[in-house]
Amino acid sequence: MARFDNSVIERIREETDIVELISQYVQLRQAGRNYQGLCPFHSEKTPSFSVSEDKKIFKCFGCGESGDAISFLMKIESCDFLTAVQILAKRLGILLREETEEDKIRKERRENLYKLNREVALFFMENLRKSKKAIDYIKKREIPGKIANQFGLGYANDSYDKLINFLNKKSFPLDLAESLGLIATSKKGNKYDYFRDRLMFPIIDTKGRVIGFGGRSLGDNEPKYLNSKENEIFHKGENLYSLNLVRKNNNDRKIILVEGYMDVIALFKKGIKYGVASLGTALTERQARLISKNADDIYICFDTDSSGIKATMRALDIFSNDSIEVGIISLGKYKDPDDYFHDNSLEDFKLLMDNAKTSYEFRLDYLKSKYDIEKPEEKIKLVKEFLHDIANYKNPIEREVYQRKLSEDLNVAYETIKSNDVGPIRRYDKRFIISTSSEIKDSIDFELLKLSIIDREFFEKMHPFLESYDFKDDRCKDIYANIVKFYEEKLDDKNLLYKDIIEIHSSDKNFSKNLIYNNKGFLSLEPEEMFESIKKVIEIRRLREKREGILLKMSENQDGGNVSLNDLFLELDEINQKLIAFGEGDFD
Ligand code: GTP
Ligand code: MN
Repeated sequence: MARFDNSVIERIREETDIVELISQYVQLRQAGRNYQGLCPFHSEKTPSFSVSEDKKIFKCFGCGESGDAISFLMKIESCDFLTAVQILAKRLGILLREETEEDKIRKERRENLYKLNREVALFFMENLRKSKKAIDYIKKREIPGKIANQFGLGYANDSYDKLINFLNKKSFPLDLAESLGLIATSKKGNKYDYFRDRLMFPIIDTKGRVIGFGGRSLGDNEPKYLNSKENEIFHKGENLYSLNLVRKNNNDRKIILVEGYMDVIALFKKGIKYGVASLGTALTERQARLISKNADDIYICFDTDSSGIKATMRALDIFSNDSIEVGIISLGKYKDPDDYFHDNSLEDFKLLMDNAKTSYEFRLDYLKSKYDIEKPEEKIKLVKEFLHDIANYKNPIEREVYQRKLSEDLNVAYETIKSNDVGPIRRYDKRFIISTSSEIKDSIDFELLKLSIIDREFFEKMHPFLESYDFKDDRCKDIYANIVKFYEEKLDDKNLLYKDIIEIHSSDKNFSKNLIYNNKGFLSLEPEEMFESIKKVIEIRRLREKREGILLKMSENQDGGNVSLNDLFLELDEINQKLIAFGEGDFD
C-alpha cells in the first residue's frame, strides 16, 4: 500500500470542512455550536447525529458511530482509507503522492529548523533575564514578567556575535541559522547576528512551533520592527501572531485583530486573551479565513491614524468578500490599544466592543468624513464609491440590504441607488462567457496564469490542452513554465513559486504582485466552469489563427505549392463549420 507523509493526512483532516462534507449526505441544522441531523448509519426519526465544526468530528448518540471526515467517508461510501483520503485530497486540491527519500530529508531539515528556532528563542529569553537594559524596557512598556514569559519574550543583545557564539557552542550549523534569517553574511563574507539590541517576540504557530521572530528596537534604531524573512517554515501570510494562545484560552470564540505585537500583549495583560496581529504585512485572505475559523465574533481594532483607517478598509474588503461580518472598534483619541489601556480599564474597552461599528457603519462614516453630503456632487460621489466598495460582496442579499439602508440613511431613492449599482465585478463572465467573439483577440494569458496558480485542479485540466503558442505574451510564457515545473516537482509550498515569479519579474513589480496577491473575483470561480470557458476561447482563437494562415497561403500561393488550392478550400470550409458550431459565424 502506498505510504503518505503523515503531515498530508493531518492537513486533510485539518482543512476539510466536515460540515460541508457531511451536508452532502445528511441534512444538517445548526444547533448551538454543533450541527445536527438524522443519522445516516441507522434509521431514526429524531436527530441524534451531531457534527462539530471546531473539533472536526461527528458522533451519533443513537448508534454510537463516530469519527472524523476520513472515517465518515469510508463508512458512507464503503471505501477503504486510501480511497477516502484520495477523495478528500482531490476536493482540497492537494496532490497526493508517496513519501519519497527527498521528502524525508526535507522533513528532517524542517524539524531541525524548528528545533533551532526554539533553542534560539530560549536563548533570547535567557538574555532578557540577564539584561538590565531589556528588563528596564519591558518595565517601561508595563509588561509584567509573567506575561513576558507567557509570550516567550526575549532579548537579542547589542552584539554582532553573541548568537553565533551560542550556536557554535551548541554545534548548531550556522547555515541553518542563516536560512532562518537569524544570522547574515556581510559583503566581506563575515557572519553576524541579524537581530541586535532588540526585544524579541517569538512567533509561534498553532502547533506550538517557533516559526519566526519579530524584533523591536529598544531605542530609536531604524527600523522600529525587524521581522524574520520568509523562509521554508515562516510564511507571513498564513499565520497570525498569538493565534496559538487564542486557541488555548479562547472559550468565547472571539477574536480581535490588532496591528501590533504590543497591542496583542496589552489586551492579554487586561485579560482579553483573544487578540491577534498579522506579521508585519497587510491582512491576507488566508489569515481572514483563519480568524473566522477560530471565532464567531470578530473585531478589528487598528491604529487610529490614517494608515490604520486605510488598513481597516482593506481588511473589511477581505472579510466582506468572504461574507464574514466583523465589528470595528474605535479608540477615539488613543493611538492604539496599548496606548488606550494606559488610561482605561477592561470595562471601558468592553463598552467599546459593545459599541463596535458594523462594516456598513464604518464605511459610511469614512465616506462621510471624505465627502460633504450637503453638496449634491459630493453626495453622488459618495454613493458611487460606496456601491463600488460593496460591489464584490458575493452575497446579493447583503448588497441589497446595504443599498436599501444607504437609501434610507442618505435620503436617496432606492431605485436611484440600484440603477447605479455596477454589480459584482466578475471579469470572467463579462469577457469570456458573454462576449467571446468581439474580444477574442484579447490576451487571456494573465487569466491562464492566475487560475493555474490558484487552483491545481484547473491547472491539471488545462495543462494537457495547452500549446506553447497559446501564450501571446513572452513573460507569461516564462512564468507558465515555472508553474509547470512547480507542479511537476510536486512542491507544496507556493511561496517557492511566488519567489520564482517575483524573480522573473523584478522589473515589473505591479505585474507580479497582481498575479500573486490580487485574487479579487477569482477565488469564487468554479475550476470546471472556468476550464470549459477558457478552453472554448482558446479553441476559437486557434481556429481563427489557422483560418488566417490558410487565407494567407491562398492569396500568396495561387497554385497552392505542395498543397492544392482545393485542399485549402476544403480545410477552410472545415474550420468555418467548426467556428459556426461555436456560434462564431460572423467571419470578417
Ligand atoms: P510600539 O511602537 O512598540 O508600541 O509598537 P506598535 O505595536 O504600536 O507598532 P506599530 O503600530 O508602529 O506597528 C504595528 C506593527 O507593524 C508592528 O507590530 C510590526 O509588526 C509592524 N511594523 C511596525 N514598524 C515596522 C517596521 O519598521 N518594519 C516592519 N517590517 N514592520 C513594522
Ligand atoms: Mn504601540
